Amino acid sequence: MKSVLVTSVLTALLLATTARADVAAGQSAYAARGCIGCHGAGGVSVVDTYPSLKGKSADSIRKSLTEFRSGARQEPVMNAMAAGLKDADIDNIADYIESLK
Ligand code: HEC
Repeated sequence: MKSVLVTSVLTALLLATTARADVAAGQSAYAARGCIGCHGAGGVSVVDTYPSLKGKSADSIRKSLTEFRSGARQEPVMNAMAAGLKDADIDNIADYIESLK
C-alpha cells in the first residue's frame, strides 16, 4: 500500500517535470530557431505581416507546423522554417506557445 502511494507520487512528479521540460525546451527552440525574430518575444509580433502566436492552442500550432513541414500548407518562409523541425520540436514549441497567457 505504501509503495503504491510512493509510486503514484513519483509518477505525478515525473509527469509534472516532463510537462515543464517541454515548455522550457519549446521556449529555447523558439528563440534558437529564429521564430522569435518574426513572431516576437512571447509570441507577440510587432510586424503586421507576421501573425502573433500567443493565444493559439497547442493543437492549432502543431497542425500549422506539420502542414508547413509537409508542404500541405504553402508559404515559402514557413515551409523553410518548418523543414528542419523534428516532431519533438513541434510538440515542444506548441506546448510553449499554449503556455503563453
Ligand atoms: C522570416 C519570418 C518568419 C520566421 C523566422 C518564422 N515565421 Fe512563422 N510565419 C511567418 C509568416 C509570414 C506566417 C504567415 C504564413 C501564412 O499564413 O501563410 C507565419 C505563420 C506561422 C504559423 C501559423 C499561424 C497561424 O495560425 O496561421 C505558425 C504556427 C508559425 N508561423 C510558427 C513559426 C515557428 C515555430 C517558427 C520558428 C521555427 C517560425 N514561425 C518562424 C513568418 C515567419
